[in-house]
Amino acid sequence: MQTLSTLPPLSVELKDKSYPIHFIEEGLSALGPLLQKQLEPNSNAVLVTERYIKETLELNWAPHNFFKNEFIAPPGEGSKSLRTLEHLYTILSHAQLDRQSALVALGGGVVGDLCGFAAATYLRGIGYYQIPTSLLAMVDSSVGGKTGINLDAGKNLVGAFYHPKAVFICPAFLKTLPEKEFSSGMAEVIKYGLLADLDLYTQLCEQDPLHPEHHALSEIIRRCCTIKADIVMQDETETTTEGGRALLNLGHTFAHALEKVAGYGKYTHGEAVSIGLCLAMRLSELLGYINEQALHTLKILLEKYKLPTQLRAPLKVSALTAAMTQDKKAKHGNLRFITLKTIGQANIHSDIPSEWIEMLWREVGAHAS
Ligand SMILES: NC(=O)c1ccc[n+]([C@@H]2O[C@H](COP(=O)([O-])OP(=O)(O)OC[C@H]3O[C@@H](n4cnc5c(N)ncnc54)[C@H](O)[C@@H]3O)[C@@H](O)[C@H]2O)c1
Repeated sequence: MQTLSTLPPLSVELKDKSYPIHFIEEGLSALGPLLQKQLEPNSNAVLVTERYIKETLELNWAPHNFFKNEFIAPPGEGSKSLRTLEHLYTILSHAQLDRQSALVALGGGVVGDLCGFAAATYLRGIGYYQIPTSLLAMVDSSVGGKTGINLDAGKNLVGAFYHPKAVFICPAFLKTLPEKEFSSGMAEVIKYGLLADLDLYTQLCEQDPLHPEHHALSEIIRRCCTIKADIVMQDETETTTEGGRALLNLGHTFAHALEKVAGYGKYTHGEAVSIGLCLAMRLSELLGYINEQALHTLKILLEKYKLPTQLRAPLKVSALTAAMTQDKKAKHGNLRFITLKTIGQANIHSDIPSEWIEMLWREVGAHAS
């Protein structure tokens, strides 16, 4: 049997925008030479990372060996902002980049989204590479080319579809990832099982909790990337009306509203997705697709990773529903919900009564006034 490290990279096939996802199982020492080979010999590459990640990884890996210039964002969702982006542009202008230069995002989804958007817009577009260091970034945000920043008015409201030149996934980075952040990534892993892979979902329900050293983790990361790549290849810019890339947003219309109303950072993205998945599952039950037991099983799985299934503190239903309507996934003010026809198969509904949504929020602990 081939080991993961001998498997060829996955390929995201998008004509002239195609790119490989490399899986590096040998440990961090194998990343440097592979990265160096990719960066064009004469290019002036800038490392984009985040303070906490740089301090943590400095012990294990020395990325500064490859870069003359670096940008270090403050940790947290707040760095996906116009302010941080402006600082980044300033560093890029001092680094005297040209169109052949490249950015390298080393970090979680925050760094990846920020760096990708800077690459999409600086000099009208330069290349960039993704080296995800959080589980969430490995299974989700580093693949698919969605880049962007938040505005006060909402999450990811400014952005671009802009694909990296390559993604390098080293599960060894996860050894230093805080447990809470690992759990956050698990919410997205569970999402993939629910929407597209019954076998994966069953495996997650049956096996011991995954952790950074778990023997099954690398294979599961690769499986999630395969699901995401397949969906992205069919619907690159989320334009298909039936299904397509929108299905990846299972639980996310609820989750984005929760993150916004609670205040960014109160819930990790994965914690918000966890509650969003419960709400999407309950909606699927109301529609008659799945039974109560399926929701119960999901809650047990999420709780195995200490993920919330209820709000930690009450929030106003009216604020949550207003935030949902402002979500960029709403079409002409109409909300579209991803629901489950069955476990492993998602579909889309746009005709859900608003009273249902209000009731669902109340069920997870929101209050009327
Ligand atoms: N572009 C997309 O398709 C997409 C998809 C999903 C989520 N996202 C975005 O991703 C963001 C969330 O990403 P995230 O959960 O990775 O958050 P994050 O980037 O804030 O990282 C989470 C925390 O983990 C720390 N960390 C990361 N890697 C580490 C490591 N190896 N060792 C020690 N600490 C480490 C970071 O310092 C940070 O404190 C959100 O902004 C979300 O909107 C984007």
